[in-house]
Amino acid sequence: MTARQKIIIDTDPGQDDAVAILLALASPELEVLGITAVAGNVPLHLTERNARKICELAGRPETPVFKGAIRPLLRHLVTAEAVHGKTGLDGPDLPEPSMKLQPGHAVDFIIDTVMHHNAGTVTLCTLGPLTNIALALNRDPRIAPRIQRIVMMGGGYFEQGNVTPSAEFNIYVDPHAADVVFGSHIPIVMMPLDVTHKALTTRKRVDAIRAIGTPVGKATAELLDFFERFDETKYGTDGGPLHDPCVIAWLLKPELFSGRECNVTIETMSELTLGATVIDWWYVTDRPRNAHVMRDIDADGFFALLTERLARL
Ligand code: RIB
Ligand code: CA
Repeated sequence: MTARQKIIIDTDPGQDDAVAILLALASPELEVLGITAVAGNVPLHLTERNARKICELAGRPETPVFKGAIRPLLRHLVTAEAVHGKTGLDGPDLPEPSMKLQPGHAVDFIIDTVMHHNAGTVTLCTLGPLTNIALALNRDPRIAPRIQRIVMMGGGYFEQGNVTPSAEFNIYVDPHAADVVFGSHIPIVMMPLDVTHKALTTRKRVDAIRAIGTPVGKATAELLDFFERFDETKYGTDGGPLHDPCVIAWLLKPELFSGRECNVTIETMSELTLGATVIDWWYVTDRPRNAHVMRDIDADGFFALLTERLARL
C-alpha cells in the first residue's frame, strides 16, 4: 500500500462540507491530520461544533478539531443560513458533540503541522473561505514552499457566481484571503462551480445513499435532502450541486475530473464584481498559470465512490 496522503481539512460546515469530511474519514488512502474550522456558512462557534458533530457521526472522535478565524481578513462576515439552516447542519438531528475542541488556534496548527512534517507531504483541503490559510501564510511565509498542494472548492467562471451574479460564496466572503492564496505559488487544484454544478444530488443518488441503511447513510441523506432544496428551487434541477466532496474525491480518484492549468486572478476592488475569479481559460493573457482548474466530472463515478465509502463508516 502506498503511503497515506496527509491532509488538513479547512472547513465551514455546512452540509456539503460534512459529506466531504465523512468521505475523507472513510477513506484509508487519506490521513486526516486535523480539521480547522473557519467562519463562513454559519459563524465560527457553529462551524467548529458542526465539525466535531461530523467526526463523532463518523465514529472518529479522536480527530483533532481546531477553531480558526471568526471573520474574514478585512470584510464583515457574510453567512448562508438560507442555504444551510440556522445551525449550518439542518436536516438530521445530530447529538451535541462530546469530543473536545483542541486548544490552540487553527492557524498555529496549520503552521506547526506543515513545519513538523517533511516538506511536500501535507495537502490542504479547503472547503470554505480561505481566511485561515491566508492568515497562516502571512504569519509564517516559510510554510508556502512546504505545502504539497491546496485542493480547494471555490470560484466560478462559465457558471459565474452563486452569491452575487459574479462571485461564488467561499471567495466572496473573503476575496482578500483568496488573493493571498492564489498569489502564493503553492500548487492549487481548483473545484469551481463549473464542475460542482455537474455533481447533482439527484433523487436516485440520494436514495442510494439512504439505502446504505446505516446511521451515516441515513444522516447523509437527511443532510442532502435539506441542503439541496435551496438550489433545486433556484436552478430548477433534480438535486443540488454537491460542492465540497469534489475536493476529497479528487484526492481519491483524480481521473473522475478534467480541466486545465490556467491563471486565476481574484477581483478585490470592484463592489459590483467583488470576489469574482477571473479565469484565463482561453489563454488570452500571459498571466502565470497558478491553478489547475477543473471543469468536468464523471458524476456517476463520483457518486458511486461517495456511496461506497460512506458505507464503510
Ligand atoms: O459556494 C459553495 C461553497 O460555499 C461550499 O463550500 C459551501 O459549503 C459554501 O461554503
Ligand atoms: Ca463549505
